[in-house]
Amino acid sequence: MKMSNRISAFQCSPIRRLSPYARDAQNRGIKVFYLNIGQPDINTPPQVLEAVRNYDQTIIAYGNSEGREDLRKALPDYYAKYGLDVRSDELLITTGGSEALQFAFMTLCDPYDEIIIPEPYYTNVSSFAHSAMVNLVPVTSKIEDGFSLPDISEFEKRITRKTGAILVCSPNNPTGYVYTREELLQLLNLAKKYDIFLIVDEVYREFCYDGEEFTSVLAFPEFADRVVCIDSFSKRYSMCGSRIGALVSKNPEVLANVLKLAQARLCPPEIEQVAARAALDTDDLYLKEVKAEYEKRRDFIVAGLQKIEGVVCSVPKGAFYLVAELPVDNAEDFAIFMLKDFSLDGKTVMVAPCEDFYETEGLGRKQVRIAYVLNTEDLAESLKCIEAGLKAYREKVLGELL
Ligand SMILES: Cc1ncc(COP(=O)(O)O)c(C=O)c1O
Repeated sequence: MKMSNRISAFQCSPIRRLSPYARDAQNRGIKVFYLNIGQPDINTPPQVLEAVRNYDQTIIAYGNSEGREDLRKALPDYYAKYGLDVRSDELLITTGGSEALQFAFMTLCDPYDEIIIPEPYYTNVSSFAHSAMVNLVPVTSKIEDGFSLPDISEFEKRITRKTGAILVCSPNNPTGYVYTREELLQLLNLAKKYDIFLIVDEVYREFCYDGEEFTSVLAFPEFADRVVCIDSFSKRYSMCGSRIGALVSKNPEVLANVLKLAQARLCPPEIEQVAARAALDTDDLYLKEVKAEYEKRRDFIVAGLQKIEGVVCSVPKGAFYLVAELPVDNAEDFAIFMLKDFSLDGKTVMVAPCEDFYETEGLGRKQVRIAYVLNTEDLAESLKCIEAGLKAYREKVLGELL
């Protein structure tokens, strides 16, 4: 029997596809530090767990396709804290930011339309694009420029009649880059000039370092009709497994059409929305402390990586990822070696090879994405493993004399 051509074009996620090697390593008694996935070790706020425990309905019923009213009504106050004016009827609750991205692609693009995106990009976007049969058109951002926005002319050059939208993610996964107000304005002006949409994925909004202010795409009312903002509770409140996100748009036509998809999938998870509503009552101090913790981890891992011979690493300004270029010919081989053939004092690390975070063939082959979601003690152990692992790989696999 034949599978669809569409599914053959999907990738197995570079964040998850090496997991069998990690499981084998664990079965051999090796402790694996998981730097491959953005799963924080930070506790979920207690009132979120309490809300789940206290869920007292006798039937877990279908809810509204738009999301629970209490959650939608509470979100404007959250946005207001950032000076953003968002009404409850300007957002739909989704099953994670992931579903919001899929809804945006399906709503704004026809099959074979194009979305322009800086690469490296959040790799799952590739699968969302394949499901919507949308082609991603990359603009390469470079490690030596700290992965800042490439010149706006590079985006303009790629606009065709098939361009439906530009998609950026800020703070960025995987690079940690945070787009400035001026960069967002350039993108918005370009979107206006060519009458296309700008989708901005802001699921890491809270995590910006070095005292820098975050600028949301929702802060530009004059462009509001062409903006779609992707949001999520996953990382903000360390509740990734709850699968609650939002799609925000001030364009009523966009929302009315997204609602058709939302109705087809019936509703977002009910108990998780109750948990998300409770998350919005989290003391601001929680987010402040979490951000300070990630900033500490960022400083620690960047300093550690920069000391390892041959490693080039971007300094992320936000989120909790970085892209590092390694002194190897193939980072995926190295990542597998670390799990299959290496351990240091019974420990090793799992990293995500970066090639599939790029659309352009051959780019990112020497790069890995590291998620600094573990505490500094674990990061210190991880750094030791990476340093020793690189040496072992270069000697044993590449045959270098070090
Ligand atoms: C940039 C970005 N967008 C969206 C998502 C999806 O998040 P979720 O579906 O858990 O809300 C992630 C998850 O890692 C992400 O990194």
